[in-house]
Amino acid sequence: MTEKKMEVMLSAGEIDKRIRELAAEISRDYEGKSLFLVGVLKGAVVFLSDLIRYITVPLEIDFIAVSSYGSDTTSSGIVRIQKDLEQSLKGKDVLIVEDIVDTGLTLNYLYRNIQSRQPDSLKVVTLLDKPDRRKVDFNPDYCGFAIPDRFVIGYGLDYDENYRQLADICVLNSTD
Ligand code: IMP
Ligand code: MG
Repeated sequence: MTEKKMEVMLSAGEIDKRIRELAAEISRDYEGKSLFLVGVLKGAVVFLSDLIRYITVPLEIDFIAVSSYGSDTTSSGIVRIQKDLEQSLKGKDVLIVEDIVDTGLTLNYLYRNIQSRQPDSLKVVTLLDKPDRRKVDFNPDYCGFAIPDRFVIGYGLDYDENYRQLADICVLNSTD
């Protein structure tokens, strides 16, 4: 394996501050309602765990796993459901929780798939967005940070299933 060097892009403190703001905005928007959060495995697990502790409206969570990437860092464009939700979404106020929107292919597919399950409303929150990489038109309703076109790891995000446990979001650079 080529040696990699890490550089912090967003610190744990900056992430926490922004998540509190997002949670406050979401709590305001859904006041008087209850939320059904759909976490996208595995990358969004850390974000979802922190986000729900700052949301003040009642909520339920469930998880879906999709694959669009192999162990590569470029999108194949193929999206498949690997693990489906356990509960019906009919009549619920659903918020998809994603780690990062890159080409937009994953969320474009997921949004349509979940919309077809007849929720009362459907929105998307992503921690990170790389707008420069978009291949399909997709705009998240809530976004933590727009970032440049760099491959990032940490805070749930992986490179070949590693580095998810880092508290900061880092850029991974090859040293050669
Ligand atoms: P999209 O379908 O191209 O928008 O890709 C979305 C998925 O690709 C995300 O949910 C991540 O799992 C993965 N991904 C995209 N960019 C990165 C990155 O910079 N680091 C880690 N994973 C990424
Ligand atoms: Mg993901």
